[in-house]
Amino acid sequence: MAKTLRINGKRLYASLAELGRIGAYTDERTKIIGVNRLALTAADGAGRRLVVKWLRQAGLRVTVDRIGNVYGRRPGREDGLAPVMMGSHIDSVPTAGRFDGCLGVLGALEVVRTLNDAKAATRRALIVGFFTDEEGCRFGTDMLGSATATRRLALERAYALKDRNGLTVKGELKKIGFLGAEPVGLLRPHAYLECHIEQGPTLRHKRLDIGVVMGVQAISWQELAIAGKSAHAGTTPMSFRRDAGLSAARLNLALREMTRSGRYGREMRAAMGAVRLAPNMVNVVPGRAVCTVDLRNPSDALMKQAEADFARLCRKVAKADGVAIKSRRTAKTPHVPFDRSVQALIAGQADRLGLSHAPILSGAGHDAQEWSRLCKTAMVFVPGEYDGISHNPREFSTLKQCADGVNVLLGAALVLAEEKR
Ligand code: GLV
Ligand code: MN
Ligand code: MN
Repeated sequence: MAKTLRINGKRLYASLAELGRIGAYTDERTKIIGVNRLALTAADGAGRRLVVKWLRQAGLRVTVDRIGNVYGRRPGREDGLAPVMMGSHIDSVPTAGRFDGCLGVLGALEVVRTLNDAKAATRRALIVGFFTDEEGCRFGTDMLGSATATRRLALERAYALKDRNGLTVKGELKKIGFLGAEPVGLLRPHAYLECHIEQGPTLRHKRLDIGVVMGVQAISWQELAIAGKSAHAGTTPMSFRRDAGLSAARLNLALREMTRSGRYGREMRAAMGAVRLAPNMVNVVPGRAVCTVDLRNPSDALMKQAEADFARLCRKVAKADGVAIKSRRTAKTPHVPFDRSVQALIAGQADRLGLSHAPILSGAGHDAQEWSRLCKTAMVFVPGEYDGISHNPREFSTLKQCADGVNVLLGAALVLAEEKR
């Protein structure tokens, strides 16, 4: 069966387009249409309801757990066996395209639709899952749903996280109607697969069809609260100032220097993605800055060193600028290697389909990194156009690129779903 079945690329692409219309906006400068489905907003709720409708139409039994993760289950011939799960997320950064996460969810749905069309049964049940707030943009912590479902994060802690307006995860889940009843932490799949856009330039530049994902690099997020003193911009002599904005800028430059130094390997990445100054006025020296720091590194040891050196730098800048700097950890995950047998299976499926492929380490975080603690896991990457740009409305993968990835997903899922143990 696995040898002949192919997914319907047009149907997959049409579903991606339809989901992409929920939360769509036009970028003012470029006029490109982007997607804003920030976690647990009304748009996320509408996107979720559309996907739940599709899951039900495909005959899946849908359950929602206490952190709002959604699971659609297709029974297996030996239904008592642990299921094979496929999934990803449908929440987005506020300036997204329509592929990040959605390809993994709608790709999994397309696998089920394809099996339904072929009236094909699998030994193990299949689950299509999508997980709450993968992006972490609103409540500060990424992989919220999958980390809670896999017990890295306690449910009560996840519930209590607040957005900038003081709204909690629990309250917002309730508001959009996705505070589910299913307990978290009970699901233990046989295997987990996720198809995702690469979100980087490698596959496209090497003209490869498929990336066989070896794992996810280490991720470290912190939020810095910098306290100085607001003062008149015209009258306060430069030597009297305690400018929190200046300190944020210095630290941002220092991060860039760290990545350039080579001391943390050639692959270290760093970004100060959010900076909020207060009072944020043209003629007032900023008295307060809140900024985020995102560090990535394939090596846990080099990450540890970078974090320690950056903490030292913060102390140095605080002293030099006469400000106080407090750091709050918001997310941290180690380098996560994926299961080698599942990687081999994915590579084999790509070969069978005549698709070129190579191993690749993920620069982005993914729900798969969480499920890999519970079961054998790996990911399928597909290339993206425009240097694989992502977290940007320009994000774009072609119908063929998406369909190739989901055909590999289908083949791999069918093999795993026939495994006896
Ligand atoms: C997820 O998009 C990440 O920040 O890597
Ligand atoms: Mn994603
Ligand atoms: Mn993303």
